[in-house]
Amino acid sequence: MYSLTSTKSWHVDELQDLLARADWYQANPVTRPVHGTVATVFAEPSTRTSLSFQIAAQKLGLNVLNFSAENSSFRKGESLQDTLETLAAMGVDITVLRTTENWPTQVDASLFNMGLVNAGSGINEHPTQALLDALTIKQHFGTLRGLTVTIVGDVLHSRVARSNVDVLTKLGAKVQFAGPPEFNRDDISLLAPWTDFAQAVAESDVVMMLRIQYERHQQSLAMTEKDYHEQYGLTLSRAAKLRSDAIILHPGPVNRGVEIAGDIVHHPQSRILQQVTNGVAVRMAVLEYCLVGGCNAQLVSA
Ligand code: CP
Repeated sequence: MYSLTSTKSWHVDELQDLLARADWYQANPVTRPVHGTVATVFAEPSTRTSLSFQIAAQKLGLNVLNFSAENSSFRKGESLQDTLETLAAMGVDITVLRTTENWPTQVDASLFNMGLVNAGSGINEHPTQALLDALTIKQHFGTLRGLTVTIVGDVLHSRVARSNVDVLTKLGAKVQFAGPPEFNRDDISLLAPWTDFAQAVAESDVVMMLRIQYERHQQSLAMTEKDYHEQYGLTLSRAAKLRSDAIILHPGPVNRGVEIAGDIVHHPQSRILQQVTNGVAVRMAVLEYCLVGGCNAQLVSA
């Protein structure tokens, strides 16, 4: 069994294989190629990631266990390590894990024979989100090489931004950030250059809007949501300045009227629901990768 806990260890070839495999699954939706049991363990709320992993596993013909952290023995003080060892001992092959903290250092996967997939950890990684974003961009432009992608908003608290910098850069895109200066702190400026929002909207191939992640804030935002929307939201008038072939992304959940106008969600240049759709195929490719150790075209087409 293999794990996907970080994008950092992925090489360009593996990324390309996973994207090609996800594409393949979209073109060949009815397949039952692999066997095993997948548990989804979400210590934070989720709609898209949790359900798309469950749908992906079902489409692959896997058994799916939806572990409810709220009703589990976590509440009796059981540690994450002990919980994972317990799932492995029951025969779970892959656990899909979302944690509030950065990828938990107390987890020692060498103590059990089970794959782990990072479904979002703290502020540092959301590998499968970055993959589905890359797939969405590739489907529109044919390649990521040479594209300019601007990620706008609360990048400081965003695991999506961090994983996308790593994945999209490896695939040849130039990534930059924009938004309120108070989010341009700490390690952020080391990851990608900060740019003027209006200029970025006019020049980018991809504009990815992020919600304000209040649940991770240590202090209150210095402006009201109304002011935020006026200064940094993707409004209809700002969207009118996009290049004609540019696309709008958002990892969701969307806060309409804050980082993005409600009318933009279904704008002709928006690919927000396509991102959600792509999440299923990407997660099929990732689960297959973890179960069989690669994207095995022969196995699946057999
Ligand atoms: N993009 C994303 O991770 O959404 P969920 O929190 O709904 O899974």
